[in-house]
Amino acid sequence: MPSSILQKLEAAGDVQLEESLLTPEQLRDRVRDKQGLICVLTDRVDEALLEAAPELKVVANIAVGYDNIDVPAAARHRVVVTNTPDVLTEATAELTWALILAAARRIGEGERLIRRGAWKGWAIDFMLGTELRGKQLGIIGRGRIGRAVAARAPAFGMTAVFGKQDMSIDELLISSDVISINTSLRPDTRHLIDRRALMRMKRSAILVNTARGPVIDEEALAWGLQEHLIAAAALDVYEKEPIVQEALLTMENVVLAPHLGSATRETRTAMIDLAVRNVIEVLQGREPLTPVKPTGP
Ligand code: DGY
Repeated sequence: MPSSILQKLEAAGDVQLEESLLTPEQLRDRVRDKQGLICVLTDRVDEALLEAAPELKVVANIAVGYDNIDVPAAARHRVVVTNTPDVLTEATAELTWALILAAARRIGEGERLIRRGAWKGWAIDFMLGTELRGKQLGIIGRGRIGRAVAARAPAFGMTAVFGKQDMSIDELLISSDVISINTSLRPDTRHLIDRRALMRMKRSAILVNTARGPVIDEEALAWGLQEHLIAAAALDVYEKEPIVQEALLTMENVVLAPHLGSATRETRTAMIDLAVRNVIEVLQGREPLTPVKPTGP
């Protein structure tokens, strides 16, 4: 936590900082007598934790996604939940485009080739990729990040379409050249991309996920790539982070990033600052800046 932000928090109350990741038991133990919790997406805030923390008033997640928090249970315990929307939109949209470009132009594959000393020099038909210009970008998720990804499409000559808005998800899968997942993880989006969805996609399609891993059935994706149902995938998020499907690790047409969507200095600082401000607002009896509604975003 940047010291200027920490000072702000310390001015508002007693702070117990944890430097390393805690097990669920350790986290439960730490919050037993606390009124506020600032946590990250690897911390699980469930019924057991809420039961163990009778004085808890606010849980501020340093993430826009909050699938690590049982929001209805928090509401039952009268605990306010907040997230960090907006501040990470641009960074995540930028990373989405980095992955689209890396997959289309085989950047990871080329880099690996050079590093292992296998590059024999320029050749007319060497490592040809796919041009984006004139192609369709199908975006699943019409939230802030999906819209920011779409806003950058014209710069690459692509037409962006949104599933459920411009066409059905099925039509989007069938007609898009690049498919970007930018939806939150909910019961209805878990394994949205399964074998059936992959079978609908173009054989030349590139699938990109910077949202949440479980939106894609990773085993089905590995199968789909092995069967050449789609051309490539670029992933920033995984079903069981930090574990990645073994098969995906060996495929040249898969770009893998270690959950870096919001990982810029500017954005992470803004996320921490927003979470801290949310906690201070609630503990001082005011409304949080960015509350998560028990019914969803
Ligand atoms: C989020 O905010 O949900 C991101 O996944 C964290 O980088």
